[in-house]
Amino acid sequence: MPLENGRHARARPREAESRAVAAADRAQQERWRAFYRPSNYELPRPDQDPYFARLAAARLDQVRRHYRGGRALDLGCGAGHYALALAAHVEQIIGIDFSPEMVRAASCEARRRSHRHLQFCVANARRIPLPDATVSLVYSFALLYTVPAVEDVVEEVSRVLVPGGVAVLEFGALYSLNTIVSRAMEELARPFHLPVREMQAILTRCGLVMEEDRSFQILPFWGVRPLWMLPLLLPCWKRLAALPVAGRMLDERISSLPGLRRFAFRHMITCRRRTGE
Ligand SMILES: C[S@@+](CC[C@H](N)C(=O)[O-])C[C@H]1O[C@@H](n2cnc3c(N)ncnc32)[C@H](O)[C@@H]1O
Repeated sequence: MPLENGRHARARPREAESRAVAAADRAQQERWRAFYRPSNYELPRPDQDPYFARLAAARLDQVRRHYRGGRALDLGCGAGHYALALAAHVEQIIGIDFSPEMVRAASCEARRRSHRHLQFCVANARRIPLPDATVSLVYSFALLYTVPAVEDVVEEVSRVLVPGGVAVLEFGALYSLNTIVSRAMEELARPFHLPVREMQAILTRCGLVMEEDRSFQILPFWGVRPLWMLPLLLPCWKRLAALPVAGRMLDERISSLPGLRRFAFRHMITCRRRTGE
């Protein structure tokens, strides 16, 4: 298996990395490591947090529906909770994360459960340590909206996917109330949110064809700032938004309305690498 922190990965010719992006990346890595602990990233429990538990279930369901065998890649795997939850359904999962603490936690738990088909490695999503066209499905949750040069990452996703391979990628929309909260919570990872059209343009430029865009978080559903937004941050909205409506959360139903979609924060986009290139 050609993966040891990138040692065996085929070097990909690239232009010199922009210094500004590299610096932003390093700053972001420090923030992640300072403020986020593996224990913060348990999969949410339905009795404690029905909204985020249903979001997690929707993510897992999307991966299971599109997986057709072969290797899967969990980009920004954190403490490995999604990989661990998918272990029974997927032949092989590689998880990468640039936080050694997260990777250690994920590896320990996989070992404890004897999941030898799950492997985790420290790497930046902008340099995936895998050869071209060796992954049949990539998924990435709660990562891309904190990456300074997201197109670099999407390009990497496209590179490692086999032609016809699937990616389930979560982006964060710029024109959303969540952007206001994320900017106000300046001690956390810096937001790098994008207009919805820009997400679609990036996918196209990287050779990925969008098949589905599931939208969530018309309200932020977290955070305690800015103060003027507090009425919209009350937990009652999150409880209401989690209610199921014809198999999906009320929030997803509202966030998918044509006039509102571009103001919903979270876009879980399923796309496929073009064949014949
Ligand atoms: C919010 S956590 C999400 C973890 C996991 N995907 C989940 O949903 O539970 C984001 C993770 O992405 C990692 N991360 C952020 N930027 C990264 C990058 N450029 N390359 C690799 N990992 C990154 C962080 O270290 C963190 O563990």
